[in-house]
Amino acid sequence: MLVDRDAPIIVFDSGVGGLSVLQGIRAALPQAPLVYAMDRAAYPYGQQAEATLLARVPALLGRLAERYRPRLIVMACNTASTVALAAVREALQVPIVGTVPAIKPAACMTQTGVIGVLGTAATVRQAYVDRLSAAFAADRLVLRHGAPALVDYAEARLRGAPGDGDAPRAAINALLAQPGGDRLDTIVLACTHFPLVRDALVETAPRQLRFIDGTEGIARRCQALTTGQSWPAQAPTGITLTTGEPAECTLLVETLARFGLGPAQAL
Ligand code: DGL
Repeated sequence: MLVDRDAPIIVFDSGVGGLSVLQGIRAALPQAPLVYAMDRAAYPYGQQAEATLLARVPALLGRLAERYRPRLIVMACNTASTVALAAVREALQVPIVGTVPAIKPAACMTQTGVIGVLGTAATVRQAYVDRLSAAFAADRLVLRHGAPALVDYAEARLRGAPGDGDAPRAAINALLAQPGGDRLDTIVLACTHFPLVRDALVETAPRQLRFIDGTEGIARRCQALTTGQSWPAQAPTGITLTTGEPAECTLLVETLARFGLGPAQAL
């Protein structure tokens, strides 16, 4: 299929989490025009009912697809992906890349046989996670914990605020305290907000733990899906969109600029 040179890749999340994914895509495809879309009005997704996300996410991405004619949409959100990936793929003609918890690589890497899945409350209760665990980690112990405070902590940090400094420790301890947690050696960062605060997680961990996420895999998938397509000579400054009030993103301006994005506009 012939793709317009200027057709963007849309990267979508509830808030800033998708920036961790966007960074990987930017490194893999430096010329790609990017649109970063946040559904701030429904943040945090992890505290939403499945029905809300199923009604909301396909409709929102449909609107974005009509407006921007993207070559690819990346759902840079584990919560939206584990709940609504199939519904979005059914509703839209555009290729969709989802973000799913990196349970498969974690199951290969663990030496103790115990892995932790740190995500939102919504993600860790999904049947999607049951299926991934059964398919790729059947002989492993998979512990799960939903950490909404860690999501808020990442949002605060990217706005230059300290946030709740206890959130990283509390999240790790909640996994380690579960039966078998004393043998845990690998933690899947199953929320795109969490790689943005990896430094705090590493620092607070009471012993050496391996943290893994799906960013590289997503970037590789984007590369594969756009092989042979043409690009502008240089990527333009990325467009940032948000539902709700763009003024609420004023404190994000510097962070967005660091990721090659302009200030947030209304979606
Ligand atoms: N960054 C998202 C995820 O990967 C959602 C966080 C939230 O809005 O609760 O799950």
